[in-house]
Amino acid sequence: MMEDLKKTFLEEISAVNNLSDLSNLRVKYLGRKGIITDRLKSLSALPHEERPLQGKKINEIKEFIEADLDSKESRLKQEELKKQLLSDSVDVTLSGKFVPFGRQHPINKVLSEITDIFVKMGFSVEEGPEVELDYYNFEALNIPKDHPARDMQDTFYISDDIVLRTHTSPVQVRVMEKRKPPVRFIAPGKVYRCDADITHTPMFHQVEGFMVDKGITFSNLKGVLEAFLHQMFGADTPVRFRPSFFPFTEPSAEVDIGCILCGGAGCRVCKGSGWLEILGAGMVNPKVFEHVGYDPEEYSGFAFGMGVERIAMLKYSIDDIRMFYENDIRFLRQF
Ligand code: PHE
Repeated sequence: MMEDLKKTFLEEISAVNNLSDLSNLRVKYLGRKGIITDRLKSLSALPHEERPLQGKKINEIKEFIEADLDSKESRLKQEELKKQLLSDSVDVTLSGKFVPFGRQHPINKVLSEITDIFVKMGFSVEEGPEVELDYYNFEALNIPKDHPARDMQDTFYISDDIVLRTHTSPVQVRVMEKRKPPVRFIAPGKVYRCDADITHTPMFHQVEGFMVDKGITFSNLKGVLEAFLHQMFGADTPVRFRPSFFPFTEPSAEVDIGCILCGGAGCRVCKGSGWLEILGAGMVNPKVFEHVGYDPEEYSGFAFGMGVERIAMLKYSIDDIRMFYENDIRFLRQF
């Protein structure tokens, strides 16, 4: 009878091939209502003298079953671990997944470079609307009604008194209107002019620079611009100021750097002059101060404006401005 029990158990356990079936089998034999437990309970029904022998036999079988269950359990656990390791393993010889990543547009790259340099010199960054009132774009900047810049040929008009801003200079007026001096900021952004050829696009970017306080002189303008240009184009780059005219600055200057392509010897890009025109600048015209209620007797300041595309073209030797906006990935990938 005991031998039958052992035989049945061995048959049953040999049919088990996973841990959950094995656990069921353990309950079936050794659980609180299991076969072995039952047998031990039924000992009490035997005559007194038979009990020790029967008890010993049942306990032997119990130990045998326990040991067999334990060893099968550890075998199954190992097999399962092996299976899991196999299915989880990484084939290091497979080629990786291609993850395409973007990069900054060359214009944004140059813009952030310019911004970084001025922020380190203590300039804040301001913005103004691209759809602008005639008043801010022209009138408050002392650009009279008959000025050629107001011509329909150059300016996109939305209505009689609303334009797409033709430069970032209107931000000067907007900032002064809401703040008392001292002010010191740059204003990067998009500007629009009705013009298109290999050096002009109808939309392009400018960075305006502006600083007003007591006692600001042309020397401050020279110092700030030289510091900027030397960081942007290299410490040895020659810088020169030429007299010029803008209605909103007086005196005004055009600022050149020594040609970074030919080193000043004269080439196609600098048209043989050895110099590249890089920005317009000047001392803020008192007439502009009058529009915003700054006292020109108390305050003075400077302003400058530069074209970002032009700087990017020089920096990267690009000879057609339209490349920036054709979105040819082969072009854009190079920066
Ligand atoms: N706004 C001028 C332009 O677009 C540049 C400029 C800015 C000149 C500030 C002087 C001072 O050409």
